[in-house]
Amino acid sequence: MKRILIVYHSQEKGNTKRMAELVAQGCRKQPGIDVELVNVNEKRVDMDAAEKADAYALGSPDYFTLMAGGLKQFFDDIMLASWHKKQTLGKPYVAFLTHGGGGGAIKSIDKLADACKLVRVADNVVCKGAPEKPADVKCAIALGEALAAHVAR
Ligand SMILES: Cc1cc2nc3c(=O)[nH]c(=O)nc-3n(C[C@H](O)[C@H](O)[C@H](O)COP(=O)(O)O)c2cc1C
Repeated sequence: MKRILIVYHSQEKGNTKRMAELVAQGCRKQPGIDVELVNVNEKRVDMDAAEKADAYALGSPDYFTLMAGGLKQFFDDIMLASWHKKQTLGKPYVAFLTHGGGGGAIKSIDKLADACKLVRVADNVVCKGAPEKPADVKCAIALGEALAAHVAR
């Protein structure tokens, strides 16, 4: 069984949570994939769970053109864990963002993912507000499908 860990910060309206759930829906289309979701605004990711994951889907709202704090904490934690040989670098990831009209924060996710030597396997998905329009829903589900297909190879 392959594992995908969906790490997202959602706080204000649940917009990013909704997107995380759609990404999970896409991941689950692929048989043999175990999907875990963690809202890092509520709890930190256990580093053993992070290490057991074969891939990550990383999501955040845009806060001041930066990722929100919970996701930043995840990056800090995996980097530190890698220095202590408790975290494998080079895992595949995808990223998603919700915003209020900006969206520039997606760059901060790519920057830290690159610093942590994660490998992006599909284009980022960025959505204004909640993913309610059919096109946004489709993109979020497709993101999960793409990650799961990569993991299943
Ligand atoms: C403290 C704070 C700062 C924000 N800064 C921005 C911003 O710089 N650009 C933007 O487009 N949206 C900004 N927003 C709006 C959120 O990114 C947007 O509402 C997001 O979808 C909220 O996701 P959530 O409901 O999952 O928490 C900000 C919201 C908050 C609470």
